[in-house]
Amino acid sequence: MCGIAGVTGASDALQYLIDSLFRLEYRGYDSAGIALQTSDGIWRVRAATGTTSIKSVKKLADELGYPVAAGIGHTRWATHGRPSEDNAHPHLDCSGRIAVVHNGIIENHVLLSDELAAEGHELTSETDTEVVAHLIEDGMADGLSLTGAVRRCLERIRGHYALVVISSDEPELLVAARSVSPLVAGISKGMATLASDIPALLSHATEIFALEDGQLAEVWPGKLVVSSLAGDTVLPRSLQVNWTLEEAKREGFEDYMAKEMHEQPRAISDTLLGRMSPQGRIILDETRFDDDELREVEKVFVVACGSSYHAGLVAKYALEHWARLPVEIDIASEFRYRDPVLDSRTLVVGVSQSGETLDTLMAMREAAYWNSKLLVITNVVDSSMAREAHGVLYTRAGPEIGVAATKTHLTQMIALELLALYLAQLRGTLYPAEVAALIEQLNALPEKVQHVLEEESAVKEVALSVASVRDFFFIGRHVGFPVALEGALKLKEISYLRAEGYPAGELKHGPIALIEPGTVVVAVATRTRLWDKLMANIAEVKARGATVIAVANYGDQETAEAVDQVLWVPETNPLFAPVVDVVPLQLLAYHLAKAHGHDVDHPRNLAKTVTVE
Ligand code: M6R
Repeated sequence: MCGIAGVTGASDALQYLIDSLFRLEYRGYDSAGIALQTSDGIWRVRAATGTTSIKSVKKLADELGYPVAAGIGHTRWATHGRPSEDNAHPHLDCSGRIAVVHNGIIENHVLLSDELAAEGHELTSETDTEVVAHLIEDGMADGLSLTGAVRRCLERIRGHYALVVISSDEPELLVAARSVSPLVAGISKGMATLASDIPALLSHATEIFALEDGQLAEVWPGKLVVSSLAGDTVLPRSLQVNWTLEEAKREGFEDYMAKEMHEQPRAISDTLLGRMSPQGRIILDETRFDDDELREVEKVFVVACGSSYHAGLVAKYALEHWARLPVEIDIASEFRYRDPVLDSRTLVVGVSQSGETLDTLMAMREAAYWNSKLLVITNVVDSSMAREAHGVLYTRAGPEIGVAATKTHLTQMIALELLALYLAQLRGTLYPAEVAALIEQLNALPEKVQHVLEEESAVKEVALSVASVRDFFFIGRHVGFPVALEGALKLKEISYLRAEGYPAGELKHGPIALIEPGTVVVAVATRTRLWDKLMANIAEVKARGATVIAVANYGDQETAEAVDQVLWVPETNPLFAPVVDVVPLQLLAYHLAKAHGHDVDHPRNLAKTVTVE
């Protein structure tokens, strides 16, 4: 998830782009860059100085010494290739006459860059984006206009993208295209702008238009022409925007947590992208392990903290069931103090959205000491854990600003499910047809999560009906247990209410003593393996006066009749169910916290990244 901006017809394109990039910084800032249309052709500056990248770009660009009218800019959140100046956008073709900025993922970039290199193109970055500049170069060398060459390039690339391209052959023109990743255009007198997001446009545009999937835009000063990929002109969709800058950064949502929960369908599909072949196989070449090394693995340890630990618990069920590997899961802060038995045939999987959590990092170092194979699942490219591990599987949730993990938690579960299926495929513990069928179900998850998000007002009503309650229990069995733990953690951290997560079968061994009339029990009661046993546990707490709210599958009247209120979710494969079932619990925690008047993005006593022991 990166920020992109473009302008033509500006009195000072550099200043406009820098201001826009600052407004887009919440989309990532590991590096930044701009390309300007100068009298001597395209002039590009880039910097990878972390939080100061945009400032560094401005300082370097000021050396140009005169104002120009058009250019493009980018602030990056790395997905392919570590954060570095070489990987920073804009990317150029071999001649330096074409510059490209991109947000998204080009799925077939490896194939295309091999092909381009074989034809003699010189690719200088590790990114998926650079191929676009070279494909357009080929098109223009064949006599196509910039627009024609972009159109031809789009026929070759697969994946998610918002692209803005300039060429020194047509200095007033910006060409843009969209597939899934957002892109908006702004028009004002004598000027036009493009951006990945509305905040970048707010200051200058008098009219704002949204590009749809499969549309291409040509932008000149004061003029926008939108067409389909086939070349038919279409009427752009106009947007009525009356947001302040802060509201625009949150895309109109009240806070980042709300925005990030609603980004989950996209985050899941980005995390799946390119990791499954059309023939129904899992492809995880990027982990840097070769298959023989992974075949040697006899045991898996998962180490993590907080929500990442809960994602790891789900992985235990998936890895044991599908890959038939024994799995131990540890709270990272305990792992190295209990003398774990590790060796070179052990795979240690560290799960951490930040890749910086000290407890998890130290647990991985302990495993490195014993020569275990280290794999990290993280959302931050080139984070400490990503650098130290032998292999990395990145989640592609984009930056998460709210302290409560939401979209990173869901994408961790997705990455871990992919890992479990990959190991099963490698070890032959699942038939190819079984893997293919599971892939189909994985691909259906973004839509199912979207359905749950569309039920938000119903969840809010349930939250408001229990807003005066102070004690909550969350219970589940099998994969419903980690969901219960995560539901309880979300509620604790943002609403400061007492919430305990328990395996439902354990209640009778002690905690049931706390159940009394007025206690709310939230039960994860979707149709996973131990549903009937869970129903017996629900009966036990109801008999003691608890009010029960169940997460249940659409249309499951039997569950609905046994409880007081229902949070409905679509059904999926039981081992994928946590990805769907946890979403109403995020919404429940969110609306309870709001009902109590709390700032959900900045809960008390917590930090987004915990780098102390
Ligand atoms: O960056 P990490 O995933 O390693 O962070 C681990 C925990 O600190 C984190 O999940 C924390 O529990 C969240 N605030 C949960 O919402």
